[in-house]
Amino acid sequence: MLVLGIESSCDETGAAVVDASGRVLADVVQSQVSLHAPYGGVIPELASRDHLKNAGPVVREALARANVSWDALSGIAVTNRPGLVGALLVGVQAAKGLAWSRGLPLVGVDHLVGHLLAVFLRRSEEGAPPPSFPFVALLASGGHTAIYRVDGPRAADVRELGATRDDAAGEAFDKVAKLLGLGYPGGPVVDRMAQKGNPAAVSFTLPMGHTRSFDMSFSGIKTQVAARVREHGVPANEQELADLCASFQSAVTSVLAKKLVTAAAQEGVSTVVIGGGVAANRELRRRVTELATERGMRAVLPELASCTDNAAMIAYAGLVRLRAGERDGWDLVATSATSLPRTTRKGRGVR
Ligand code: KG4
Ligand code: ZN
Repeated sequence: MLVLGIESSCDETGAAVVDASGRVLADVVQSQVSLHAPYGGVIPELASRDHLKNAGPVVREALARANVSWDALSGIAVTNRPGLVGALLVGVQAAKGLAWSRGLPLVGVDHLVGHLLAVFLRRSEEGAPPPSFPFVALLASGGHTAIYRVDGPRAADVRELGATRDDAAGEAFDKVAKLLGLGYPGGPVVDRMAQKGNPAAVSFTLPMGHTRSFDMSFSGIKTQVAARVREHGVPANEQELADLCASFQSAVTSVLAKKLVTAAAQEGVSTVVIGGGVAANRELRRRVTELATERGMRAVLPELASCTDNAAMIAYAGLVRLRAGERDGWDLVATSATSLPRTTRKGRGVR
């Protein structure tokens, strides 16, 4: 079974072909980073226009690289939520047009479910075997940060255990990088700078870092960095800048890793998984592996290319739906809301 996936929820236009074992036959990502970089963040209108330009070419390129014809496909999967509605709309319309003209079934995919299942993708022969259900997953990207119990591959099988109450973790990386004049997107550059820095150089406090709830908060640490920059300026010295990055990264990743592993222990689940752009962070990967091992759990980490936005994860999540006999109609809509159930803040509370 081969499925074509299309992704356009934010600033990457992607098309990919995967098979039922999660093998990635082709994964084409046309990044818009340089388009948005001068503004320090994604400009929705520019994103939509660029998706429009790139959607056709990335689909053609994915099929060519996978060396498959339209006849070999079992269906088309497209991200239809959550994201920038204008950006999503381009992918959804492209997928509808292709599905209609090629007589293929169409399924919409929740981008967050795609991130949660990215760990099942196989890009090479190496790599750890995929996890089995249930697992507890940390999803940390530019728009979302939450911990979920995942009992199966579909949105209905996912339960939120905790989530950020303000900024997403990736957003904190991006804002701190911007404050330090390191450019956009901030995650990869802070990760790189932090390699040379001392994580104990600056002490940051994370609100909710020590509460027993699995909720999180990342806006306060950004304010702490802003206050330092206001008082002392951006460190002119390369080593001090690296120390600041390492200290910030250490504070954020320690909370993420600790809450993930504690949540799994509380759920009586012995496998932890991470996903989303921040899952590419080296320090987070190291800490999650270390903490999970200490607690006798298995940590399964997606390959780096599967962490940041890509269409392969969308193709795979769509394949799961298609395999179960599910189809969407021509009334499939693009929406900014996730389909994942959210525990109400009030209901969960702080224990
Ligand atoms: O999943 P993703 O590609 O897009 C969204 O769905 O948001 O995540 C992008 C986010 C950005 O905030 C980016 O700075 C962050 O992931 N990111 C990282 C790293 N690579 C990307 N954050 C920390 N360390 C990294 N190595
Ligand atoms: Zn994403």
